[in-house]
Amino acid sequence: MPPVKNGPVGLGIIGGSGAFGRFIASALPLVPDVTLRGIAGTNEQRTRQAAQALEIPFWTINYRELIDHAAIDVVVVASPPHLHAEMALAALQANKAAFVEKPLATSLPAGLAVLQEARRREVPATIDYVMRYSPLYQAAKKIVQSQALGALRRMEFRNDAGDEGLASDHWFWDRAKSGGIFIEHGVHFFDVYGWLAGADPLQVHGLTVERDPAGQQDVVHADVRYANGILGIFTHAFDKPSMLESQEGLLVFDRGSVRIAGWTPVRLEVTGLVGDAERDQLASIAGLELETVEAFAPGRTMRGRGRHFPVRHHLRGTLAPTQDSQELYRRAVGAALADLIATVRDPGHRQQVTLADGLTSLAVACVAAGTADANDLGRAVAAAGV
Ligand SMILES: NC(=O)c1ccc[n+]([C@@H]2O[C@H](COP(=O)([O-])OP(=O)(O)OC[C@H]3O[C@@H](n4cnc5c(N)ncnc54)[C@H](O)[C@@H]3O)[C@@H](O)[C@H]2O)c1
Repeated sequence: MPPVKNGPVGLGIIGGSGAFGRFIASALPLVPDVTLRGIAGTNEQRTRQAAQALEIPFWTINYRELIDHAAIDVVVVASPPHLHAEMALAALQANKAAFVEKPLATSLPAGLAVLQEARRREVPATIDYVMRYSPLYQAAKKIVQSQALGALRRMEFRNDAGDEGLASDHWFWDRAKSGGIFIEHGVHFFDVYGWLAGADPLQVHGLTVERDPAGQQDVVHADVRYANGILGIFTHAFDKPSMLESQEGLLVFDRGSVRIAGWTPVRLEVTGLVGDAERDQLASIAGLELETVEAFAPGRTMRGRGRHFPVRHHLRGTLAPTQDSQELYRRAVGAALADLIATVRDPGHRQQVTLADGLTSLAVACVAAGTADANDLGRAVAAAGV
């Protein structure tokens, strides 16, 4: 694909009338030099109405027509997960850049095919791992890298999501369409926490809970061990009224912890036992407000992991850029799109997130789902005909 040097970059959204397609469209005013040129859907009336609401002239129920639209340079794939790989491949084969909603695919071979096609054709592409562009996770990454709290040892993530908007016939519950919760949703967090860990995942083990004998899986859990010994513990439930939705991520370091919380997260809290240099490192993180819980005299040491370390401050800090979680999320989606569009304009641009990240997190999700299926005693007993 030749870089787009002049004029706005043209964008088309497959799934532009869907819940997240509309959210992506709402982020476009935050992205410089991009114009929405068309959307594709499945239902004529809904797609036309969505196009009217977005004030765009072109809509279609044949997504290939959107891909072939001469003024569309970037194709956003915001359809249900089982269609992502097929649609992303079609866009790449037409030499159009692809912004693929998570997950990259519902199987590893399909995800790999998308990655290989993008590389072979040198067409810009990415996956919408929006969390990586959140100032909360970016601050957490800086804290990890600074070693101000010592080494990161453990990461615990809990996601209690609502199911009020998910009728029992929604594609979300159909593993053939969504891939299941590990793949549809878990990939986001396998990605962002893997990035925080800064090492490859080495071991994965999954567990699942089914709501009823019909097999509606609404709670999933995975443990992940990374190459540097960090443990990741992930739990996702989709069974709450919307008002009780909450997320909480905890990073446990040698000399402190970081908590990221809210729905979707709006607040990072840090606490730790540090020296002067570490306090200065934390203080340099934009927007992180620090307060001293207790100050210690020079020469004071404490002990952890069998080693003494000097401590001058017990600190507490907060980063809360806004209470408007939708706005924070919208800005992050805008930043993710802007990152891809920077590559569309300049192939030398280095993206923060790549399709390879989409594939690594998909691999973790697939192994989590596979081990959960394999260690299910009920299935094993049924399969043995007992
Ligand atoms: N990055 C995020 O934070 C985030 C958040 C929510 C959803 N998502 C992802 O966005 C995707 C869409 O989710 P949603 O909740 O908007 O679903 P949805 O059911 O509301 O919308 C799906 C859209 O895809 C369209 N579609 C389906 N089949 C199609 C086809 N063959 N051709 C053209 N269009 C087709 C539908 O018409 C609809 O507009 C999913 O992959 C989901 O995982 C991502």
